[in-house]
Amino acid sequence: MRVVGIIVSLLIEIVSAGFGGGGLKDLSASSSGKQADAVTGREIYSNTCIRCHGIDGKGAMGIRLVPKPADLTSPGIQNRLDASLFKRIHDGKPNTAMGAWSTALSDDEIWDVLAFVRTLKQESGP
Ligand code: HEC
Repeated sequence: MRVVGIIVSLLIEIVSAGFGGGGLKDLSASSSGKQADAVTGREIYSNTCIRCHGIDGKGAMGIRLVPKPADLTSPGIQNRLDASLFKRIHDGKPNTAMGAWSTALSDDEIWDVLAFVRTLKQESGP
């Protein structure tokens, strides 16, 4: 009986070593495994996006672009999927002043800035 007990506990150890070592992945994390961070995103936004999109995301004052920078608080933007907005920030929008940020920002930084853009939604008023 004691031998069976030892074998069982050995088996349990082997099984838990096989599955315990980080086999499970957090699917909500970005491709690199890092969670998007809106606080870092706000810093990136202030440095790179604010001059066109403004402090509140509704467009910088006195900017004259055709078309105007998108209102990031609007439902038209906020109702879009993360992947679609990520691609826009990454690749830019042709024939507008919205450039491709993939050369200046890493994928993680784009996810961070997108997380911040998502926080602008609540400030769009009632
Ligand atoms: C030089 C000015 C400028 C800068 C800097 C800029 N944008 Fe834009 N952005 C624009 C313009 C212009 C548009 C296009 C508006 C339109 O198509 O009507 C736009 C559009 C967008 C859109 C909507 C894209 C779409 O598919 O309609 C998003 C999201 C966006 N910008 C996010 C950002 C973020 C995040 C940054 C900083 C990393 C940034 N922008 C920096 C000018 C700028």
